[in-house]
Amino acid sequence: MNPARRVAFDTIRAVHDTDAYANLLLPHEIGRAGLSPADAGLATELTYGTLRRQGTYDAIVADAAGRGVDAIDPPVLDALRLGAHQLLSTRVAPHAAVHETVELVRRAAGAKATGFANAVLRRVSERSWDEWLARVERSARSDDERLGLRHAHPVWVIRAFRRALAAEGRADELEQLLAADNASPSVTLAALPGLAEPPADAERTPFSPIGFRLGGGAPDRVVVASEGRVRVQDEGSQLAALALARAVPVRPGERWLDLCAAPGGKTAVLAAEALAGGARLEANELSPVRARLVRDSVSGIPLDVPVSEEDGRARAGRGRYDRILVDAPCTGLGALRRRPEARWRKTPADVPELTALQVELLSAAVDALAPGGIVAYVTCSPHLAETAAVVAEVRRRSGDLLEELDAREVVASVAASDIDLPAQADGSGRAQLWPHRHGTDAMSISLLRRR
Ligand SMILES: C[S@@+](CC[C@H](N)C(=O)[O-])C[C@H]1O[C@@H](n2cnc3c(N)ncnc32)[C@H](O)[C@@H]1O
Repeated sequence: MNPARRVAFDTIRAVHDTDAYANLLLPHEIGRAGLSPADAGLATELTYGTLRRQGTYDAIVADAAGRGVDAIDPPVLDALRLGAHQLLSTRVAPHAAVHETVELVRRAAGAKATGFANAVLRRVSERSWDEWLARVERSARSDDERLGLRHAHPVWVIRAFRRALAAEGRADELEQLLAADNASPSVTLAALPGLAEPPADAERTPFSPIGFRLGGGAPDRVVVASEGRVRVQDEGSQLAALALARAVPVRPGERWLDLCAAPGGKTAVLAAEALAGGARLEANELSPVRARLVRDSVSGIPLDVPVSEEDGRARAGRGRYDRILVDAPCTGLGALRRRPEARWRKTPADVPELTALQVELLSAAVDALAPGGIVAYVTCSPHLAETAAVVAEVRRRSGDLLEELDAREVVASVAASDIDLPAQADGSGRAQLWPHRHGTDAMSISLLRRR
């Protein structure tokens, strides 16, 4: 059996069986299996493609099997999803897709299940992707369900995205966004300002002034050679950190805090900016294991960055700060490109718990601001409940204490070229980045200043 398929299958099984994260587990499994670069690429495509489109493949498999996917043994179902992906969305020869999938079923569930798997896959192979879509869409009960099948997103996520786009008057971009979530993002890197420069032959990113892409070759080599001064980082994350650091000129001696810092990508950018401006930076991360990642991420920067391991709600009050980054724990709906299983794992029930925490973290940060101090509230989610509503609630609680800066203007002033950031319907200064429009994760950035 082709080892790439086995690695993909084992990763998908672990995602469903033990709540593993594909983006973390897959590189490990590829290394363990000693896959060639070509097979590593195939394993990645198969794993990501199968997980991303899982909702649609489930509808197809259920139709072909004549029973709901709940009635299919989980290892067999995962093999069928992987088989459907190969048959409908790749150039893998159909006989190879069917044969190898049946072998996976034999290995995972025994010979008794192979007849069923073989019959289902043969039925799947009788139609193309478009023909299957037309067929399963007929059973959709609403336009959103139809969109959900076509673009493999849960309906509640589609509705949250539509509302967030509509707040900018751009609801018509919804399908572009859903399509962008199903494409693999290209790798962007950041050269920490003042500490590194992009290689001369690198392609500069359109918006982040410190961002670039490599024409070819693995980024790992460049990152390692730079001793941490060049890092893989989404362009939106770079802009978010720079928006706080450059919102107003830095006065030497300013105190900065990164309240929810791990893994430390934005901490590193803040550290470089603090170093250049003569500011001090502290970082905090609730999880001790993840706090180590923050220490690693700033280890190559000649600035002492103490990293505490506390609940940010208590930690913020132990100082007075001129700038605080609250890059809050969130649903991560803005990074679905990178986490293929995330859209199926999150539920609307996750939102209220997160928004309560977000309000508390941002309120604690506001309380810890020195007069004139600025807090950046950032989420890797465009969900209005996690973005606009959190800021509105904290502003309501703070009375006249806070003024909102125009984050759209700040991001535009930081950006290396014109950036399309429409005004928000609520009149706030919130800047919302998007995968389809900016090629970034869907980061939301708000800037609040204590009067
Ligand atoms: C969105 S991530 C931060 C990403 C980071 N700023 C970066 O750019 O690499 C949010 C982090 O907040 C941490 N966290 C969750 N609850 C927290 C709390 N109550 N106090 C502080 N940190 C918390 C999570 O462990 C997670 O590492």
